[in-house]
Amino acid sequence: MSAALVVEDLVAGYEPGLPIVRGASLSVAAGEILAVLGPNGAGKSTLGKAVAGIVPVASGSVRLDGREIAGDPAHRMARLGLGFVPQTENVFAELSVEDNLDLAAAVVGAPRAQRIAGIFELFPDLARQRRLDAGRLSGGQRQMLAVARALVASPRVLVLDEPSAGLSPKLAQHVFAKLAEIARDGVAIVLVEQNVRAALALAGRAVVLVEGRVRLEGEAAALAIDPRLRDAFLGRGEAA
Ligand SMILES: Nc1ncnc2c1ncn2[C@@H]1O[C@H](COP(=O)(O)OP(=O)(O)OP(=O)(O)O)[C@@H](O)[C@H]1O
Ligand SMILES: [Mg+2]
Repeated sequence: MSAALVVEDLVAGYEPGLPIVRGASLSVAAGEILAVLGPNGAGKSTLGKAVAGIVPVASGSVRLDGREIAGDPAHRMARLGLGFVPQTENVFAELSVEDNLDLAAAVVGAPRAQRIAGIFELFPDLARQRRLDAGRLSGGQRQMLAVARALVASPRVLVLDEPSAGLSPKLAQHVFAKLAEIARDGVAIVLVEQNVRAALALAGRAVVLVEGRVRLEGEAAALAIDPRLRDAFLGRGEAA
């Protein structure tokens, strides 16, 4: 199985000489969901942002379908097929649902009408609320819009930072079910999550990041019952 996204020995952070991600490696194949777990401050968001070109990369490799993209600017990555859904400020609250999608399409030069029609097929609730300002959507629908904005560019890899944050378990499940549907369409998904149990139930594989490095990795079902998982979150144990 060839990977859509391969990250190798990635070192990244906000300031030169102060790495937050300290040599992290992972890969995800088309149609696969990889969960990125770990305690608060482990560097999960920084890893996602570095992969997406928002945080500077100091060294290491990020390959999208075999092409080196580490350190490329975010807009170029988006055009090449890497979608990123940030945890916050991921929609324009004062713009309508439709204008949010239109703008996302314009930024990557995607054929707008056609893509947005496709998005509305995948997200019928958003289609019904297309004229509503995004700021007036429910939390769950706003997350769906954030995901939809990334999908407008037809990404082959989609990186999401805690799409379930702030949602009720039921709404989180709606978002996760949609991610499963997107993966079934062949998109490779990297899911950064705090919600460990739900993420392991959804993902095929997972990595556990501790202090900027991958401490544990494996099949999600196996990790879910691995006692080392709890130790990693509690800051115990050696690198596996
Ligand atoms: N914009 C920033 N500038 C400087 N340092 C930052 C910035 N954002 C995060 N950090 C630092 O990077 C480290 C890792 O943060 P990061 O947000 O990547 O962790 P995380 O694993 O996503 O945590 P959480 O589970 O709380 O979301 C922390 O020490 C944090 O203080
Ligand atoms: Mg985070």
